[in-house]
Amino acid sequence: MWTNSSAYPTQPPFRFGDNRKMTGPPKPNATGSSAVAARINAGEKNVGPQACNVALLGFGTVGSSVARILCERPNTHLRLTHVLNRNVARKKVDWLPSSVQWTENIDDVLSSKADIVVEVMGGLQPTEDWIRRALTSGKSVVTANKQLIARSGPELIGLARQMNQQIQFGASVAGGVPVISGLHDGLGGDELFKIRGILNGTCNYILSQIEANGIPFATALREAQKLGFAEADPTEDIDGLDARAKLAILARVGLHCNIKPESIVARSVSAIDAVDFEYANQLGCTIRQISCAELMPESKSKATQLFAAVQPALVELASPLARVEGSQNLVVATGKYGGETVFGGHGAGGHPTAVAVVSDILAIARSRQATVTTTTTTSDAGQPAETTPTVTADFTAKHYLRFLVKDRPGIIATLATILSQSGINIDSVLQKPGCPKSHLPFLITLEECKASLVEQALQQINSLDFLVQPCLHLPIL
Ligand SMILES: NC(=O)c1ccc[n+]([C@@H]2O[C@H](COP(=O)([O-])OP(=O)(O)OC[C@H]3O[C@@H](n4cnc5c(N)ncnc54)[C@H](OP(=O)(O)O)[C@@H]3O)[C@@H](O)[C@H]2O)c1
Repeated sequence: MWTNSSAYPTQPPFRFGDNRKMTGPPKPNATGSSAVAARINAGEKNVGPQACNVALLGFGTVGSSVARILCERPNTHLRLTHVLNRNVARKKVDWLPSSVQWTENIDDVLSSKADIVVEVMGGLQPTEDWIRRALTSGKSVVTANKQLIARSGPELIGLARQMNQQIQFGASVAGGVPVISGLHDGLGGDELFKIRGILNGTCNYILSQIEANGIPFATALREAQKLGFAEADPTEDIDGLDARAKLAILARVGLHCNIKPESIVARSVSAIDAVDFEYANQLGCTIRQISCAELMPESKSKATQLFAAVQPALVELASPLARVEGSQNLVVATGKYGGETVFGGHGAGGHPTAVAVVSDILAIARSRQATVTTTTTTSDAGQPAETTPTVTADFTAKHYLRFLVKDRPGIIATLATILSQSGINIDSVLQKPGCPKSHLPFLITLEECKASLVEQALQQINSLDFLVQPCLHLPIL
């Protein structure tokens, strides 16, 4: 029989992800993989998959779906051993095996034979502490926690490497869409330079509803809240803070850029109105919250720059981004050699997110098995070195300016003068007929120029007395 860790409590660890050839007597690790290796070395055949014990921290939407998949999946060598939650008595269900230990105490998990700790509680603390303690106790970690990974990912990955463990976070971006593994493994052979995506299902649902039903933003938000597509406090979603944490993770995984989420400009979608969709449609576009990171290579005069922002933007109706409806997510990665690759699907929800979590558990379990039988590496060997670029939102693009004014003669002439003084060329002017003169919406589109030039001109424009509200400025991507 396979021997577990308790047989070798004080032996030095065998390194997971170690690409050395195993020579000499195998050294046991905390999960007993070397015991299997020892058996192989001794000539034993037909070693089956190594049992892998899983402990779950958090039994909410995602946690209960993970438990459901783990206990319903046939022929799996994954074994759920612990479920931790605060006030755990109210969480107990009768569909999990009686062998599962329900607990409120993290020490029960850390001192157990769990090989993988799955963190699906959310929040920054005590989550980060517990993940650190799990790694230092010789356990690998799977987490769905975007805010934590966006903030402390590099440190946690470093700690995992130091402890010869792994940390996987495939569910932290785009829920059930395998974009992290897609960028890291599937497109690892390309040189990616641009990632664009719809990373927040709440915003996409609200914008789709405004577009489909011609309703105001506030109505669409209320309906999304009623249907459970938006939180009671939707700030994180609406203001782009959720999406920028995800973009920071994607920039790290796909573009090898170490950036803080706070360095990414995030603009709210709350100023978008039904009339903006009418105008966008006339331009052959729609409006979506777009997260975009684009790498500008190092030049003689400049260090590496990353253009990055999360903002509502016009996208052409022909773009895959325009066809994302409701709470779906989509990511388009562009590489030097492979061109565009699109990842899409359910960006949230218990079951889709749990699929990503279980896939991460399986990846770790597989690599543990590979370590045992072939000593292959699971490290980041061969990945390009990370850079720390300067981050800017000063994209060069065409621009959409939507004004709401008290009508009077000379408005267009005044705006045109300010824009031309800033060196900006007008491309077109559109005005929907039949609107009240006291609240007249009209549109000016601009030829390609830097966003900072437009923002500068708008500082002057927004103080003009005929404006009913500040001008809405969106890039046309
Ligand atoms: N839901 C999604 O669609 C989705 C998609 C992608 C990623 N994620 C990420 O997955 C994680 C979990 O999300 P979720 O939607 O499953 O959240 P959730 O439904 O609120 O579940 C969290 C669970 O963890 C428990 N918990 C929270 N803090 C705890 C603590 N300090 N000690 C013990 N138990 C604690 C909660 O207990 P109580 O019942 O007492 O609150 C709850 O049962 C988050 O990081 C989230 O960002 C979620």
